[in-house]
Amino acid sequence: MRIGITNLKGGVGKSTITQNLAVCLAHMGYRVVIVDTDTNQNSLSWYGAREKDLPDLTVVGVTDSQALSKTIDNLHKDYDIVLIDGTPNLSQMVTRIILSSDLLLIPIRPGAQDFRTMEEFITRYNEAKEFRGEIPAFFLLNEFSPQKKVHEGISGMIESSFDIELLQTKVNSRVAYTEASISGKGVYEYSDAKAKNEMVRLTKEVLSKSKDLQLMEE
Ligand SMILES: Nc1ncnc2c1ncn2[C@@H]1O[C@H](COP(=O)(O)OP(=O)(O)OP(=O)(O)O)[C@@H](O)[C@H]1O
Ligand SMILES: [Mg+2]
Repeated sequence: MRIGITNLKGGVGKSTITQNLAVCLAHMGYRVVIVDTDTNQNSLSWYGAREKDLPDLTVVGVTDSQALSKTIDNLHKDYDIVLIDGTPNLSQMVTRIILSSDLLLIPIRPGAQDFRTMEEFITRYNEAKEFRGEIPAFFLLNEFSPQKKVHEGISGMIESSFDIELLQTKVNSRVAYTEASISGKGVYEYSDAKAKNEMVRLTKEVLSKSKDLQLMEE
């Protein structure tokens, strides 16, 4: 299965979500590869800091949008799950990621949402669907604070404005995400049990969506 983690907005957690899903999936026994499409190479550097005795996963850098879909298809033969860490650039790459994915996760940060870039993203998504047919996509709330009432309202507004389902699991704002990433880890491998639990829930929810959509077998 090929999962694109994408959005036109920078700093919404694309790399954080990609890396943490990769770690959880690797611990569950899936063969996982991350395709890092960003020129800032966040996932490649994260992997460089990863200790070798942790469950293995692979990170491949692809910044040439023309080469993306072929690289992903080749990797897809050897890995159960290809996670594509998106770029915030308004480049062709975003469209290529959408076209190369079986499922899209669109991280959004309440409070930092930007309807104009979201509209631009949705336009591209709709164009890609006209070209390729249905491409399942889900919003994912990142850096959520349950105590901030306004966050709940915003999530409902985003969901109804764009007609894209919001995943039930929300990723809260926690220092563990930044701290774990410094040593090439996911929160699954870190000391914050709440962060670990929510990432396990998120991974299971993504897997269950993919099974519902028949993108993966049990
Ligand atoms: N749930 C979270 N809680 C706390 N900090 C977070 C969370 N998610 C992401 N961050 C932090 O926010 C910053 C931006 O996250 P990240 O790099 O994953 O975003 P991105 O969308 O990949 O950014 P870019 O568009 O630049 O590639 C990082 O410092 C990361 O550690
Ligand atoms: Mg990134």
